Amino acid sequence: MTTIKDKTIFITGGAGFIGSTIIGRLVEDNQIVVYDNLFRDSLKDKPFSGHPNLRLVQGDVLDFESLSKAMAGADIVVHCAAIAGIDTVIISPVTTMRVNMVGSPTFSRPPRACPAATGSSASRPARSSGSRPFVPRRRTTP
Ligand SMILES: NC(=O)c1ccc[n+]([C@@H]2O[C@H](COP(=O)([O-])OP(=O)(O)OC[C@H]3O[C@@H](n4cnc5c(N)ncnc54)[C@H](O)[C@@H]3O)[C@@H](O)[C@H]2O)c1
Repeated sequence: MTTIKDKTIFITGGAGFIGSTIIGRLVEDNQIVVYDNLFRDSLKDKPFSGHPNLRLVQGDVLDFESLSKAMAGADIVVHCAAIAGIDTVIISPVTTMRVNMVGSPTFSRPPRACPAATGSSASRPARSSGSRPFVPRRRTTP
């Protein structure tokens, strides 16, 4: 049973372990849009992978234009896309840094497509800032 109903929920990395687990809890009562480059794909083996409320957009979080387009109209945004797992990190340190350190700020730009959306991130603590949770923090010079 979920407390979130009748929302359009956009999940980056939704084909991964955390993302697909979240989808299992939400897909019956909401429309889910997964945005994932399918570097990993736990979703394909889930019983709900073909659910009519689930739509997969194959894309990269480093591609801001594609990300913005896919995110359009979302009520809730959950950021789970990441390079996770020590083996993968060791094999591809530069890619890991790009996705985990550049990809998250790219994702965090103000979402023009869905200015009213709320969201959360699996890779960073969610911050509460009203209806625009992704407005970047102002940098302070030391
Ligand atoms: N697994 C855990 O127990 C756990 C616990 C706490 C936090 N987290 C965090 O949650 C996040 C997700 O972890 P996970 O275990 O689900 O990892 P995962 O590898 O299972 O899932 C990550 C997903 O991101 C996708 N992805 C990778 N690069 C991408 C890119 N450039 N563009 C779009 N999609 C991309 C992958 O294809 C994959 O589906 C990570 O930040 C991780 O640190 C995980």
